[in-house]
Amino acid sequence: MKRYVKSVLIALFVIFIVIQFIQPKKNAGEITSDHFINQKDIPSDIKTILKTSCFDCHSNQTTYLWFDKIAPASWLVSSHIKEGKHHLNFSNWGKTDTLDLISDLGDISDVMKDKSMPLTSFTMMHGKARLTQDQRNTIIAWSDSYANNLLKEMKK
Ligand code: HEC
Repeated sequence: MKRYVKSVLIALFVIFIVIQFIQPKKNAGEITSDHFINQKDIPSDIKTILKTSCFDCHSNQTTYLWFDKIAPASWLVSSHIKEGKHHLNFSNWGKTDTLDLISDLGDISDVMKDKSMPLTSFTMMHGKARLTQDQRNTIIAWSDSYANNLLKEMKK
């Protein structure tokens, strides 16, 4: 029995080492003038909150912590990024149509209210990304008023 346990442990360890060679491509794109961070009409406190809590999955730049790079966690991180960017990508903010921005802002406000973002599986491991109710309210107030302004501009 003892020998059996030892062989299983060794096998698991070998598998763990081997899967480290299967690494997804890093999400490390360039920050262009279209990036949310470079938009002049967005207050810096909003940029800071979204950068800390959202950009890892919703932009072309992820800040990886050491355990994010270890398979199989790295595979999960990569799939979150792919799916997150598909829904909303802050790197493309400046080249997004006004109507799409209005819809994105509505979604951002919604996920702040229902607390579905940032994903709990992420904040469990990335404590810095957790949002206080105050921070959520700040984002809600900003996204609602920004969407309203865009609507008004469109009607002119
Ligand atoms: C760990 C990665 C991760 C983080 C961090 C994250 N998201 Fe997401 N987000 C996702 C994924 C994956 C989806 C798509 C699946 C889903 O809706 O659960 C998504 C979907 C969304 C959507 C679309 C929801 C819809 O109903 O269409 C919005 C809006 C959004 N996220 C906003 C945010 C905001 C704002 C933050 C920061 C406060 C944030 N996310 C942080 C991964 C993330």
